[in-house]
Amino acid sequence: MKSKLSFSRRLQNFPLIGAFFAQIISLILIKIGIQTFHYHLPIVAFAFFQAMLSTIITQAIFKLPKWFFIISFLFPIFLILGPQYFQISRGIYGALFLLLALTFSHTLKERVPLYLTNQKTHDALKKIVDDTSAKAFLDLGSGLGGVVRAIAEKKVTSVGVETAPLLWVLSSLASILTFKGNILRQNIWNTKLHEYDVVYAFLSPAIMSKLFYKVKTEMKAGSLFVSNSFEVVGTEPDEIWQLDDVRQTVLYFYRIKK
Ligand SMILES: C[S@@+](CC[C@H](N)C(=O)[O-])C[C@H]1O[C@@H](n2cnc3c(N)ncnc32)[C@H](O)[C@@H]1O
Repeated sequence: MKSKLSFSRRLQNFPLIGAFFAQIISLILIKIGIQTFHYHLPIVAFAFFQAMLSTIITQAIFKLPKWFFIISFLFPIFLILGPQYFQISRGIYGALFLLLALTFSHTLKERVPLYLTNQKTHDALKKIVDDTSAKAFLDLGSGLGGVVRAIAEKKVTSVGVETAPLLWVLSSLASILTFKGNILRQNIWNTKLHEYDVVYAFLSPAIMSKLFYKVKTEMKAGSLFVSNSFEVVGTEPDEIWQLDDVRQTVLYFYRIKK
């Protein structure tokens, strides 16, 4: 039981491996089914069987994060039916794969998906910068750089760190062209936090404990750590803001005490 649990937990740390095995297991099961019943499965049915079975395996057996539901379902359908029905060439698949890899590298490695802070949250963050008279702001994992550019309008030093190559290129370009903020191609874990008055993160529950340890160790006394949506388990936030945007954003505030 223990080894089964830890196997499933290990797979959750490397969801791409789980997703890959789910496709292989599902393929083997379908092949066994076809051979046993001597049934000729039309390609469309095969694609949908593969999609459904692999999705069930990622969720029920490997217990991968919910959003793998979509990936596991769509991947075989596009791969099997794409060349057949939509004349999608292998080159396009290759280019798409590269584009996804350059954009979502952290989704697979650290379970941090790409979702972006909305306008109402930008406004709330600007208010926080005003209220705290912050001089330097940092967005950890800055995505397309929207937060960094919005905060730069407040005439504070606004910095983002991002390692997904495509996101870094696009957001750096946007910062250079608009003269708003600065995006560094830098990993969160190699970023020193002591020079920032407000550090913002919109990441994932999977890394909050590790991140908060870094925050507590490196941020100066009196500075502020703000987490969008994800609480630090076991640490009471100093304040919580519930915004009235569509997704009912919740911001958790942690004031650094030494
Ligand atoms: C949920 S998005 C948030 C984007 C942006 N902060 C916003 O709120 O609009 C998280 C971002 O963190 C980036 N990321 C995840 N882990 C990272 C790491 N270790 N170092 C740098 N960036 C990382 C991802 O590539 C992604 O762009």
